Amino acid sequence: IGQHVHYEEVVESTQKIAHRLAQEGVQEGTVVVAEEQTSGRGRLDRVWHSPKGTGVWMSIILRPTVPPQNAPQLTLLTAVAVVQAIQEVTGISPQIKWPNDILIEGKKAVGILTEMQADADRIHSVIIGIGINVNQQQQDFSDAIKDIATSLAAETGELINRATLMQTIFLKIESLYEEYLKNGFGLIKVLWETYAISIGKRIIARTLRGSIEGWAKGITEDGVLLVEDDLGVLHHIHSADIELST
Ligand code: BTN
Repeated sequence: IGQHVHYEEVVESTQKIAHRLAQEGVQEGTVVVAEEQTSGRGRLDRVWHSPKGTGVWMSIILRPTVPPQNAPQLTLLTAVAVVQAIQEVTGISPQIKWPNDILIEGKKAVGILTEMQADADRIHSVIIGIGINVNQQQQDFSDAIKDIATSLAAETGELINRATLMQTIFLKIESLYEEYLKNGFGLIKVLWETYAISIGKRIIARTLRGSIEGWAKGITEDGVLLVEDDLGVLHHIHSADIELST
């Protein structure tokens, strides 16, 4: 991972470029990095603020030999890798909020967006977008996100070397990815659950079809969140926003 890095000053979205490169057949592990994104995208069609020079905005192209329905596992794998890299580089221990937000002290520092090009039975490529707030100061965040966002520098009080962080992430993803292709999702699931904020806690999951409140029991092999409600019914949550309930 990261043997070939396409470095750009300004792009609309590194995802868009990575999709194009993937279609052109670039080597697996190719990465697109930008200093600034003018229309960074988040999950659920949200905007991802990507100001110049302060963050890591990148997209990694993988071509895993697994069925398309297993692709969400790669999001969870990436979250584990990024948590480990942040721990190693900054000493901070972030937590994962299902499915793929990385939080420090309850505020979001990292978002992960996985997209794929696939047929019904075969993955052509998976594009893993990683956005990390690295060197923003707390006052740099816009009013819309200042209460829910943070950065590594805001938390540590020190500027962080973005190149070192990226290199560390590449190494962590690479070793977890090798493990995953060889032995499957088992170890990654266990690691993910140890870093997850919500497992074992009472949560509210807001889905498109309404809210479910209950105990977060864990995740399935596919990365689906299991929530047991007060009637003892187990819900499989595929897509939702999670809130810890008080
Ligand atoms: C989320 O939390 O909703 C996911 C955010 C993903 C942001 C990254 S930044 C690099 C890549 N390019 C994008 O446009 N989005 C992802």
